[in-house]
Amino acid sequence: MGRLVVVSNRISDPRKTAAGGLAVALGEVLNSSGGLWFGWSGKLAEVPTGTEMPVEFHQAGPVKLATIDLPREDYEAYYVGYSNGVLWPVLHYRLDLADFEAGYIEGYRRVNQLFARTLLPLLRPDDVIWVHDYHLIPLAAELRALGCQQRIGFFLHIPLPPPLILAAIPGHDWLVKGLCSYDLVGFQSKADHEHFCRYIEAEAHAQDLGEGRWRVFNRTLHAGAFPIGIDVNEFQALTDAPEAREMYERMRQEYSRRKLLVGVDRLDYSKGLPQRMRAFRQLLAKYPDTRNSATLIQIASPSREDVSAYTDILHELESLCGSINGNYGELDWMPVRYMHRTVARARLPGLYRASRVALVTPLRDGMNLVAKEFIAAQDPEDPGVLVLSRFAGAAEQLKEALLVNPYDTEGTAEAIHLALLMPLEERRQRHQALLATIRRTDVHWWCDSFLHLLAQTEAEETGTPWLRL
Ligand code: ADP
Ligand code: F6P
Repeated sequence: MGRLVVVSNRISDPRKTAAGGLAVALGEVLNSSGGLWFGWSGKLAEVPTGTEMPVEFHQAGPVKLATIDLPREDYEAYYVGYSNGVLWPVLHYRLDLADFEAGYIEGYRRVNQLFARTLLPLLRPDDVIWVHDYHLIPLAAELRALGCQQRIGFFLHIPLPPPLILAAIPGHDWLVKGLCSYDLVGFQSKADHEHFCRYIEAEAHAQDLGEGRWRVFNRTLHAGAFPIGIDVNEFQALTDAPEAREMYERMRQEYSRRKLLVGVDRLDYSKGLPQRMRAFRQLLAKYPDTRNSATLIQIASPSREDVSAYTDILHELESLCGSINGNYGELDWMPVRYMHRTVARARLPGLYRASRVALVTPLRDGMNLVAKEFIAAQDPEDPGVLVLSRFAGAAEQLKEALLVNPYDTEGTAEAIHLALLMPLEERRQRHQALLATIRRTDVHWWCDSFLHLLAQTEAEETGTPWLRL
């Protein structure tokens, strides 16, 4: 296989801390394969929209990072507006939070065209291009329009809702046609994949050719589910390293008389943080024995602060944490420790390992890597318990977790109570099964199975015309 070229909106130096599943997973993949990673620098330029943006190169170990700044106006329409004001809420089933402002889609298209124009001269003939996530759905079609001949795959890191929800997006047909311009499209879960198949059958009269192949828009397309994983070995090595050990020791000392519960998320409305706090409050109210004996540490890193729904969730969470501590706290015990920041990646495993229970309770999530990191960091002899939302993509794989409906406050509180009281033997058995699953389907398996299939699409010689949007 030729050089791997990864394209995503957010990129980060694979050797540094990043909050967000995409950056973490791609960092792992590229660190071992090497290649080129192209995307947005995270910086804004005060230049008119339409200005060609210079590429900055940066060697990060085996990975060459190539980034461009974005004109402020394009950032507003493409990132804040269309990606995070339309696609993020709708694809997470939150039509109520979508802002279908007409001008956003133009900005979205403009930035995809800018990405295509800037990336094209950096490509080599035998490159394999792998595009990631909802910011860049039309990129393959834009590259094809400029004559790009290389194989192009796409992976969606977030959920794909059922056809009737997707169809609420003005221009949904254009968007899905963009998806159909790839050689291979990957989804996180079987459910997401099935929603896509149902959509293209119903709305685009796609013909099922079997084995994940479709005849649609007069070309052959491959689609499938590729649940993303973590690098289990690397994460376990991180757990044994001095920084994580030190974190573990500190937490054990600080909370020697208490059981720790942990939540680690980007501060996003899809993560179900207020619902989690209400379930924890219900636990304290219903089971007085948990007062003074259980502490919830919630780390929520700042995310997308230019989008108003994110400011609302911040205020709601702060007010809930304050009222729980005000109502239940003692002079020597606070039920919730809430921190609005990112924790250094090297210390995270220590925090996970010191915790008896992890609360991973999103209202909707593509996969959720925190669930897998928590499992990897546990001591197999005395492991903690994972309380996992049935609406996270990870729930399709992690059947031995305690699965909950995060909208059900009572039910979630009961599951947390069960987790706190779970006998050692049951904890061990569940953990053993979960660890085997995340090992079998780790990030390298994810990457290899996707790229292997992408290479096969080439061998099959689809020989079909490129789609024009
Ligand atoms: P998403 O991609 O929606 O943010 P995931 O759970 O799939 O959700 O991935 C989150 C990644 O970012 C994980 O690797 C996790 O360790 C990291 N992360 C999330 N929140 C924080 C935080 N507050 N501090 C440090 N790392 C974080
Ligand atoms: O994993 C989902 C995701 O949306 C990624 O695409 C993204 O990089 C990450 O969460 C963090 O969000 P953002 O890039 O908007 O800061």
